[in-house]
This record gives sequence, C-alpha cells and structure tokens, in this order.
Amino acid sequence: MKIFYYTASGNSLYVAKNFSCDQYSIPGVLSGNTRYVKDEAIGLIFPCYVGSTPTLVCEFMEQVKLESDYIFAIMTYGNTSLGALHHVDLMARKNGITLSYLNKVLMVDSSIKYFDMAQQIRDQHEKEIDKNISRICEQVNAREISVGKPGFVMGQVSKLTHHLYKKEIGDVDRKYRVESHCNGCGVCSDVCPVSNIKPGNPPVFRHRCIRCYACTHNCPKNAIRFSNEKSRARFRNENVSLKEIIKANRFNSTRL
Ligand SMILES: Cc1cc2nc3c(=O)[nH]c(=O)nc-3n(C[C@H](O)[C@H](O)[C@H](O)COP(=O)(O)O)c2cc1C
Repeated sequence: MKIFYYTASGNSLYVAKNFSCDQYSIPGVLSGNTRYVKDEAIGLIFPCYVGSTPTLVCEFMEQVKLESDYIFAIMTYGNTSLGALHHVDLMARKNGITLSYLNKVLMVDSSIKYFDMAQQIRDQHEKEIDKNISRICEQVNAREISVGKPGFVMGQVSKLTHHLYKKEIGDVDRKYRVESHCNGCGVCSDVCPVSNIKPGNPPVFRHRCIRCYACTHNCPKNAIRFSNEKSRARFRNENVSLKEIIKANRFNSTRL
C-alpha cells in the first residue's frame, strides 16, 4: 500500500501515520517527475478546504495516474465538511479514478479565521479522534468498499464552495502581517507547500498563497498574523513534528 498525503498543520499526516505503509507528500510528488503509481492499494489523505478538495490534491489527481484495485480517500475536517466528500468523488471520477472507499475524520479545525485554536485544542477530546481514526484504519486494512452515492444538490454546493475558495486564493497573503519579533529563521518558507514565501526578515509573500496557514501555524516565533484572526493561538497536531511538516512541504523535498 502507498499513501499520498497533504498537510499544513499535521492532522492529515497524523492520520496517514496510523497506517503502516510507504507515505509520500503530495506537494513533494508534484514537484518531482513521478506521474504514474501502481500498487495493490493507494490512499489519498488530505484536509477539507471550504467544503471541497484542496487545489493541490485536485492537481495531484489530474497529473498522477493511479493504478490499483483499491483506491481510497480520507478527508480530515474540523467543523462541517458540507459537500466535500462529494467533491472528492467528483474530482476523482473526472480524472478516471474509481474510489473504493471514501471517508472523513473530524479533528481540530485549523482555520484561524473562524476559530480560536486554544479552544479547538481544549475541546478536541470531544471529537473522539483516535477512536475514529482506528475505525477507519480497520476498514481500509480490511479493504472495505464504501463510497456513498453523490447527491446532486451537495455535488452542486461543493462545486460552488470550491469555486469560492479558488477565487480568494493567490493574493490572499496580503492579509498576512509579519510582526517585528520575526527573526528571519525561514521556517515559514520551509513549510509552505507551494513555495510562496521568500525567506528573509521579514519574509516576502509571492501572491500564490493557497491559504493553508502552514506558515502561521508553524512559525516558531508566532510572528505571522492573519487579518481578522480569532486569536493569537496557533495549532500543530501534537503527534507531528515541525521537522515532519518541513519534510512534507519544502519544495523538491520528497521524491518517490
Ligand atoms: C483554508 C481552509 C479551509 C477550511 N475549510 C473547512 C471546511 O469547509 N470545513 C471544515 O470542517 N473544516 C475546514 N477547515 C479545517 C481543516 O479541514 C482541518 O482542520 C484539517 O484537519 C486540517 O488538516 P491539516 O492539519 O492536515 O492541514 C479548513 C481549513 C483551512 C486552512
């Protein structure tokens, strides 16, 4: 089995780490030359963005041909995923991928625009995260078939929310402000999955941001503010290290 994951604050990587198999970061694969993967089972694990699939994951499905009798997708989300699973299924089918298993795991919501991370972290036990991940791992390891039928309405909703998400990314990084205690360490640049940040003091944003918040969640100095953020608190999954996020997202860092 091979797993391909995309993560900004560690939740999706934590889910991936619960499987014992080879694991590859989606930004890493996209920055390399591999465009064909064959295995007995292939999994994609990634977050929900605005009720839909992150653009990087859409690009992966478009660019990398997957060949397997069992392809599964697991989406991590923090609050309500709306039609996101329908969107994943639509994207998969559009790219000739037949999913055998599709599911989601409720975890800490990384969206600093809507949530106070300190409260999210405090309340995470209510989401029974480990129990739900174990159940999903068991189902995948047993090669269970479960996708669900994409309903027309939720399919349309997910297309709309994906469109709204795509419209606001790019120069959304103009909403970031770097505080004067930034020491120019370059971690923000290292954890950015789309190479949007030129390291420096202050770092320079290149306006191709996908608003994953990896830079601000992982800043060792907590020096990157987002306009209208709910609080100064930041989040990285406690089972994932900064080193692992850097390894996953530093451009050209991972190859198959
Ligand atoms: C840009 C953005 C949009 C998000 N949209 C949603 C959403 O629509 N619904 C939801 O439940 N969670 C949403 N979230 C929360 C993440 O899906 C969730 O916290 C996820 O587990 C983060 O995964 P990661 O830690 O692997 O990056 C969003 C997060 C970000 C950064």
